[in-house]
Amino acid sequence: MTVSTDIAPDSTIVQTEIAPWWRQAAVYQIYPRSFADADGDGLGDMRGILSRVDYLADLGIDAVWLSPFYPSELADGGYDVADYRDVDPRLGTLADFDALTAALHARGIKVIVDIVPNHTSDQHVWFQEALAAGRGSAARERFIFREGSGPDGSEPPTDWTAAFGGSAWERVADGQWYLHTFAIEQPDLNWANPEVRADFVKTLRFWSDRGVDGFRIDVAHMLTKDLTEPLPSTAELAEIPVDGNHPLLDRDDVHEVYAQWREVFNSYDPPRTAVAEAWVAADRVPKYASPESLGQSFNFDLLVADFDGAQFREIVTHNVALAARSGSSSTWVLSNHDVFRHATRYGLTNLDDLPGDAAVPKRHGGGWLESGADQAVLDRERGERRARAASLFLLALPGSAYLYQGEELGLHEVAEIPAAQRQDPTYFRTNQEQYGRDGCRVPLPWQPDGPSFGFGTAGAHLPQPAWFADHAVSIEEHDPESTLSLYRRALALRHELQTGEQLEWIETGRADVLSFARPNGWRVVTNFGTEPFALPTEAGEVLVASQPTGEASDRVVPAETTVWLAPA
Ligand code: NOJ
Repeated sequence: MTVSTDIAPDSTIVQTEIAPWWRQAAVYQIYPRSFADADGDGLGDMRGILSRVDYLADLGIDAVWLSPFYPSELADGGYDVADYRDVDPRLGTLADFDALTAALHARGIKVIVDIVPNHTSDQHVWFQEALAAGRGSAARERFIFREGSGPDGSEPPTDWTAAFGGSAWERVADGQWYLHTFAIEQPDLNWANPEVRADFVKTLRFWSDRGVDGFRIDVAHMLTKDLTEPLPSTAELAEIPVDGNHPLLDRDDVHEVYAQWREVFNSYDPPRTAVAEAWVAADRVPKYASPESLGQSFNFDLLVADFDGAQFREIVTHNVALAARSGSSSTWVLSNHDVFRHATRYGLTNLDDLPGDAAVPKRHGGGWLESGADQAVLDRERGERRARAASLFLLALPGSAYLYQGEELGLHEVAEIPAAQRQDPTYFRTNQEQYGRDGCRVPLPWQPDGPSFGFGTAGAHLPQPAWFADHAVSIEEHDPESTLSLYRRALALRHELQTGEQLEWIETGRADVLSFARPNGWRVVTNFGTEPFALPTEAGEVLVASQPTGEASDRVVPAETTVWLAPA
């Protein structure tokens, strides 16, 4: 940790510890195939991102997280990795990656890359070797191969279902089956095999040596498994508590892997960082977020919350306390590449009336679309207004803010993608009942016209709707009231205002109006309700507001609006 030395007025030497950069970073997630396309093949690429480094710097973020850009057959948007230590030739070369990293670093922006350790692609050389080598071979031991059930082994070993639908087992030509928790093309690795462990250490070193600052760890809670026979059925699995010994999920022994990774991270100066994508119970999160393990863990609670003051308050209070238990900082996410954009989630006016029984997937993008897409009513303006208010609330919270490309433009989910152009395996493996995640992965609009709204010189790999024109960067950057201008102003102010990680709630007398104070008198008020909220007379000047506040408005917070206030 860096230590600075300040001279206090009385000449006493004060040692001030500077917090590591990641603790309160604004991290911008780039989905590389949909960000910017430099070579005109319809897929975003490294040089496309390089051409937009000024945009990233002007936005005011501290780091970018690059979703997978590795060679991949794109069975799962790049989360099916064929080679962990290379760049997909359609996206560029390692030299392009180095140039991008250098350009980002030159603008003071850190680089985080995605590590996908639970599974490879079926195109990975190891899996190809496993297929060729046959049963009982060392090559198959890198994955999870089993004999089938039934008299002739023609049934899968268990009735487990994959995350994208269908059986979690796939049969290969010689009759054995392999486990794939996700798509068929994503065989699970065997983390009991030391060779697997050694290879990931090599990968972490490979990218760290190239100057990468940190890693986002995909499904960090799933790597290690106890596959002792007989394997349990789905019904039996559901009865087993997820307390560290569950056969498939959130096992305590996964932290042996991360302890080894921590040694790697800490062997660099500054230490490399990591953030876990771990879908685990709250009391299990600190294990992933501890300094001996990955150091930080995603908190997805806001992804599944309504635009509701009580829910937001509870989530913030809970997660700040939870982060303190591991000594980490909290993370905040409203959108990412796996869920419906928050402008859309907040704009669906008839959510509760839609078909689909599970409240959570209904809200974060699964269930309501199963059969309800054509019945969903979207109030676009309201969705955008609420999204701006929620984003400004999030950007004032202590901890790291993870932003997803396009949210700074106020983009909605793209619902109108023809079946023939959909890509997400969720869509195909659920017999087209769930639309999946393509709608938040549509290439960004950089200008209001041109073959792909400035994304590239040709078309885009997912179709962009006509309304993207209104959200083009070149339009929004000249509009002081645009969502892009709001994000720029807020991110710049955040740098000025942010110091310690404390947050103190201020009672407002209204359950639908939240207010909190950060160190040095920075105050935030969010009105989640539909009635304006009068600011107390002693409130400081309005520094930024998510909606134009109108005349003399600095004393009133309109409906569904956040304001940041200067110290009174
Ligand atoms: C989580 C990733 O965010 C998601 O996009 C992916 O499909 C699964 N993990 C499998 O890698």
